[in-house]
Amino acid sequence: MIELRAITQDNFIEAFNLHLAPGQERFVSHPIRSLAQAYVYRNQCQPFGIYADGKMVGYVMVIYDWDVPEYDIWHMMIDASAQGRGYGGAVLDEVLEYIRTKPFGDSSRVALTCNRDNPLARKLYESRGFAATGVEDEDEVELALTLPDDN
Ligand SMILES: CC(C)(COP(=O)(O)OP(=O)(O)OC[C@H]1O[C@@H](n2cnc3c(N)ncnc32)[C@H](O)[C@@H]1OP(=O)(O)O)[C@@H](O)C(=O)NCCC(=O)NCCS
Repeated sequence: MIELRAITQDNFIEAFNLHLAPGQERFVSHPIRSLAQAYVYRNQCQPFGIYADGKMVGYVMVIYDWDVPEYDIWHMMIDASAQGRGYGGAVLDEVLEYIRTKPFGDSSRVALTCNRDNPLARKLYESRGFAATGVEDEDEVELALTLPDDN
């Protein structure tokens, strides 16, 4: 249904042109800002364009936190014109498959934060097994899961 493709010199402008719906800017950084962070953390992260039918419809970044250690999912967004078609759930499945390959380090913990006024996203994460950890920072609630062992 969807495909993750690394952001490269061939597609970063498409990521710049993604749009959030009005009011969603407080939930997530735009890919332009996220890609600036990706440059700073370039040895421990992978930004992806989300593709459906060959067109970029969203953006998500996976970053490894050596300190915990854990994988974090940052800045997941689907373009306003493509929301509500089931892409968000499919993206999470693909992102978790990617993290299972342990591209940066050997951790099975996956964490993210979600704004407390974003019940739609929170429900989506909980449907994939994420649960609140009790850690909260201002308006953001941390959710996490542990990937099951492969064997
Ligand atoms: C959150 C987000 C990534 C979800 O992606 P999506 O492709 O729109 O989500 P899906 O189509 O997979 O739908 C997920 C659920 O939300 C519901 N939903 C989606 N859009 C909806 C809408 N506009 N109104 C009501 N429900 C909606 C779907 O019915 C589905 O529920 P279900 O699993 O019970 O059927 C997307 O809405 C988005 O980019 N939002 C703005 C940025 C953001 O909040 N990112 C998350 C940061 S933590």
